Amino acid sequence: MRSKSWKKVWFIKSFLECSEKQPLHAMVGFDMLTRKQWDKVIYFFIDKLEIKGRESVLEIGCGSGAFLDAVKRRYKKIEITGFDNCSNYIDVAKQKLIGRFFVQDASDNEWDLDDTFDIITSFSVFQYLDSLYIATQVMENMFKHLKKEGKVFIGDIPNKIFEDDDKEYRRKEKKYLLRSPELNADHLYYDKDFFITYVRDKGKRILILDHENVINPIFPNIKYRYSLVIS
Ligand SMILES: C[S@@+](CC[C@H](N)C(=O)[O-])C[C@H]1O[C@@H](n2cnc3c(N)ncnc32)[C@H](O)[C@@H]1O
Repeated sequence: MRSKSWKKVWFIKSFLECSEKQPLHAMVGFDMLTRKQWDKVIYFFIDKLEIKGRESVLEIGCGSGAFLDAVKRRYKKIEITGFDNCSNYIDVAKQKLIGRFFVQDASDNEWDLDDTFDIITSFSVFQYLDSLYIATQVMENMFKHLKKEGKVFIGDIPNKIFEDDDKEYRRKEKKYLLRSPELNADHLYYDKDFFITYVRDKGKRILILDHENVINPIFPNIKYRYSLVIS
C-alpha cells in the first residue's frame, strides 16, 4: 500500500535529516529551498487565508512543523496544533515550536482530537494517501474539526493531468528509489473536479491556485501541482 511505503520513507528520512543544523523545512524534503524561498512560497499561500492573527490552526501531516513555524513567525498570536504519523518529526516539532503536537495517522477513521479550529491546513501530504476514498475520509474529518466559518488549505496537490510528466520526472530523479529501492513509493494524483465536487456539496467556495502561475519555478516539478483554499 502506498501510505505504508511512504510511512517507511518518511521514517528513514526523519532519521537521516533531523539534526540541529537542518532548518525545519529541509527535514521534510524541501532541502532544495533556502528558508527565505520556503517562507516566500508559504506566505504566498497563507496570504490567501486572510488570517487576522488570533486564529487556531491545525495542520494534518505537520512533519517537523516547518509550515506551522512559518505561519507562527508571521502571526505570533495564533495557536498551532499539528499531527503526523512519524513520531521523530513530532519530537522535533515539540522541541522547536510552542504548540500542541501528537502522533496520528490522517487516514485513521477518527482522530484523537476533540477541538474545532478556525483554519485547517495540510501542505504536501495528500499525495501519500492510499486512494480518493481515503482522501474523502480525511476531508470529512477536516470538516468535522472545522469551525462553521472556518477555512481549509490543502497544498501541493499532484495534478492528475500531469501524472505522466510527473512520473517521468520522478523516474529520472530517482530520489526515493535510490534510498529505498524496495519501497516503490508513488504518488496519488487528483483531478481538480474531485475537490470541486466535494466542496460544492459542502456548500463552500473553492479557490484553486495552479503552481505554475503563482510560484517561480524554484523546483522543477512545481508546475505539476496545485493548491486550494476552501472557505
Ligand atoms: C512533505 S512533508 C510536509 C510536512 C509539513 N506539512 C510541512 O509542510 O512542513 C509530508 C509529511 O506528511 C506526513 N504524512 C504522510 N502521510 C501521512 C499520514 N497518512 N498521516 C499523517 N502524516 C502523514 C509525513 O510523515 C511528512 O511529515
